Amino acid sequence: MSEPSAKPFSDSSVPRHVAIIMDGNGRWANSKGKPRRAGHRAGVKAVRSSIETAAQRGIEFLTLFAFSSENWSRPEEEVSSLMNLFVEALRREVDELHRNNVKLKFVGALNELATGLKNKIALAEDKTANNTGLSLTVAMAYGGRWDIIEATKAIAARVAEGALRIDDINDAEFAAQLELSGLPDPDLLIRTGGEQRISNFLLWNLAYSELWFTDVLWPEFDAAIFDQALSYYSGKQRRFGHTGDQVESV
Ligand code: FPP
Repeated sequence: MSEPSAKPFSDSSVPRHVAIIMDGNGRWANSKGKPRRAGHRAGVKAVRSSIETAAQRGIEFLTLFAFSSENWSRPEEEVSSLMNLFVEALRREVDELHRNNVKLKFVGALNELATGLKNKIALAEDKTANNTGLSLTVAMAYGGRWDIIEATKAIAARVAEGALRIDDINDAEFAAQLELSGLPDPDLLIRTGGEQRISNFLLWNLAYSELWFTDVLWPEFDAAIFDQALSYYSGKQRRFGHTGDQVESV
């Protein structure tokens, strides 16, 4: 990873937490007459670039949607090539991420993954656990509805055992049971690939996030495109349900 460059934005206008839906690998490959797996392989390069840019711009948390609950329904050959790619990416990238002080965490129904991948994930998380730089979260076998249902089960279990009263269930108690507990909500969601939807990503956590969509396909996502999203974000007034006058008077 290269040295941080001058930050193009003042610190207050930089989002603390950016979440990304990386879409368009397949179409990128198609447009080049290549198999879909070549698109995913090119997608790994864009992942590396987005991590570097996030660290250089002073973003504290980056969350990437790598594989959704629904992606299990893709053709078996594509699923297995994606899984192999994740194993390979972990083998090749973790030392470099560690050297760059990146803290790596995986969220989702990780028990659904093959043992080899789960082991690599556990090793990567252990190795980088005490790092203090960019906090990188990779969502795998993840779905926003699944996350909310799992949190609900955890809350129900606490109520059943008498550890929590129904009247004490609130935003904070609920959020503490979600996969991203302990992280601030994403300030900015970026989606590449032309679609303007959330696709069952962080349904709870994105409640007040700014949304930025681009037609650029994920393998072509680079620092310049990332900066366009950051520039859009820096021009936004975040009101969280308040009026503009209220926000300005703080
Ligand atoms: C969406 O493109 C992308 C995925 C389902 C997989 C995302 C995976 C990567 C970017 C590879 C590496 C990731 C990590 C974290 C190492 P698509 O296949 O839906 O594209 P399409 O909409 O054009 O078909």
